[in-house]
Amino acid sequence: MPSPTPTPIATPGPLPKAELHLHIEGTLEPELAFALAGRNGVELPYASEDELRAAYSFSDLQSFLNLYYALMAVLRTQDDFAELADAYLARARQQGVRHAEIFFDPQAHTARGVPIGTVIGGLSRALDAAEETYGITTRLIMCFLRDESAESAVETFEAARPYLDRITAVGLDSAEVGHPPSKFREVYALAREAGLKCVAHAGEEGPPSYVWEALDILGVDRIDHGVRCLEDEALVARLVAEQMPLTLCPLSNVRLRVYDRLQDHPLPSMLDAGLLVTVNSDDPAYFGGYVDDNFTAVRDALGLDDAALRTLARNSFRAAFLDEATREVYLKEVDAH
Ligand code: HPA
Ligand code: ZN
Repeated sequence: MPSPTPTPIATPGPLPKAELHLHIEGTLEPELAFALAGRNGVELPYASEDELRAAYSFSDLQSFLNLYYALMAVLRTQDDFAELADAYLARARQQGVRHAEIFFDPQAHTARGVPIGTVIGGLSRALDAAEETYGITTRLIMCFLRDESAESAVETFEAARPYLDRITAVGLDSAEVGHPPSKFREVYALAREAGLKCVAHAGEEGPPSYVWEALDILGVDRIDHGVRCLEDEALVARLVAEQMPLTLCPLSNVRLRVYDRLQDHPLPSMLDAGLLVTVNSDDPAYFGGYVDDNFTAVRDALGLDDAALRTLARNSFRAAFLDEATREVYLKEVDAH
């Protein structure tokens, strides 16, 4: 159930913000990975945390996903998932996060024999405590792995039915090219029928046509990444006209070589074009920073001024799946900061 409207808090630290593009499995820091490996008797193919960190050099999305899925082997029990989410929320608090909409990848766990109820139960335990412990409201977004079959996505949705009261939206992630949104038409229709919101990764490595499909075939409420929309003028016009939110992840884009340097990131021109863009961390344990680190990095690399950073913070709440009263509270916090 949505919680009662939070009271505004005065934050002297980072700008208040919502994080809308965050894979909980991508918050697994090497220290926790080794602790969980020890606890669960899982052998990691790295001798030390430093050796593991040294493997964080990626040439594209797939090279990252290989390590991302391999490290998930350490996540086995409800406690593991609760600890992972709690560690993220503690860091998010330090980064000025007031509201977090968190992706998880059930198929990456059920394929290893971890029941979906264990995953959702553990994550929910941490999320349910977050408002009291950290002053952060939360939502859970269940993602389908697009490089798995459409049938597997439907089976996953059906397995999650008993837990849909804990889930706000469905999403689509993993290897993009060759797996267009249209492949998942059926499961998105089921999700919409069940009253869930819909988001999808599109236009990170995939072409603008994938963004069109996410809009027209999946009926999404937000696009995750979406930077390749810039190759299609008519698409940009559509996204601007609809004020369709795009959840950008600048440090991720550099680490996965979508752009060579942060200085090359199109965020400023996207803001200028009137797109409703937000800044997020994606997989912060792997990409060199949490969400406020992304804000600081784009400020420094792209010369964004305070007004632009404030617009990004306001956009994050505009794009969030919040009731209007809570949204207003958070927007006032940005204005008062
Ligand atoms: N893109 C697609 N799938 C993902 C990502 C990403 O950046 N992170 C985790 N799964
Ligand atoms: Zn992502």
